[in-house]
Amino acid sequence: MAKKILVLGATSSIAEHTARVWAKRGDSLYLVARNAEKLATVGADLKTRGASFVETKVADLDDLDLHPQLLAEAVTALGGLDIAYLAHGVLGDQAEAERDAIAAEAILHTNFVSPVSLLTWLANFCVKQKHGTLAVLSSVAGDRGRKSNYVYGSSKAGISAFLGGLRNRVDREGVSVVTIKPGPVKTPMTAGMEGNEKFADVSTVGKNIARAIDSRRDEVYVPGKWRIIMAIVRAVPESIFKKTNT
Ligand SMILES: NC(=O)c1ccc[n+]([C@@H]2O[C@H](COP(=O)([O-])OP(=O)(O)OC[C@H]3O[C@@H](n4cnc5c(N)ncnc54)[C@H](OP(=O)(O)O)[C@@H]3O)[C@@H](O)[C@H]2O)c1
Repeated sequence: MAKKILVLGATSSIAEHTARVWAKRGDSLYLVARNAEKLATVGADLKTRGASFVETKVADLDDLDLHPQLLAEAVTALGGLDIAYLAHGVLGDQAEAERDAIAAEAILHTNFVSPVSLLTWLANFCVKQKHGTLAVLSSVAGDRGRKSNYVYGSSKAGISAFLGGLRNRVDREGVSVVTIKPGPVKTPMTAGMEGNEKFADVSTVGKNIARAIDSRRDEVYVPGKWRIIMAIVRAVPESIFKKTNT
């Protein structure tokens, strides 16, 4: 049966490639993003690829006041909810965030506060219906703070911890929480980064994420090698780690 799927941050390159898998098998998609033009293009493409239903909604997900009505409208349009996929996020400017706490707060707001607000509503809805999967793009950057991106990393560490606690609360109510931790992926977010030609292919990452969400994995690293890499990185003693240039 076609799944009813809500995608928040649907113009994200990773989200788009995950949604292509769902479109191909004829699922119903409700897509939310803040850029109307990009959203219309993504929506039309997913419809062409086979989605049985596509509705789009333009919204800035930083605006927490919008969330309850936005989510209620989405589940009404879909006629229920099987999967909510949260993909929106910003890398931010680490150097600026070191100078200006307001810039740091903006990164934390988009990557942590906004998903917490959305997930609180979605988790309560899913618990009530005793069914649903909540899947969120966190990052390997949240596994250990490092000088080159610790503000972004801490926003992802926060959401990973939140998801762990939420899973512990809702798993017994029939609701799954999937924490997705990509390593570096070739997308617009990483376009300016050195060595990005070696980053993971977004199409493969999207397919692997769709598989992980289908199997309701608790926590998935994509590509899988990042589970081992991050275990090693976490194991480095702080007395040594603080002297590294990472
Ligand atoms: N690429 C990587 O290496 C990587 C690694 C680990 C985790 N991730 C995470 O994966 C997710 C998707 O990133 P991506 O690589 O696919 O990059 P992307 O293509 O740049 O996607 C980021 C998306 O977030 C949207 N967004 C940001 N703030 C928003 C807001 N306030 N309201 C609505 N939408 C908002 C952006 O919309 P606009 O286009 O309108 O700006 C964009 O569609 C992010 O959470 C990112 O942190 C990425």
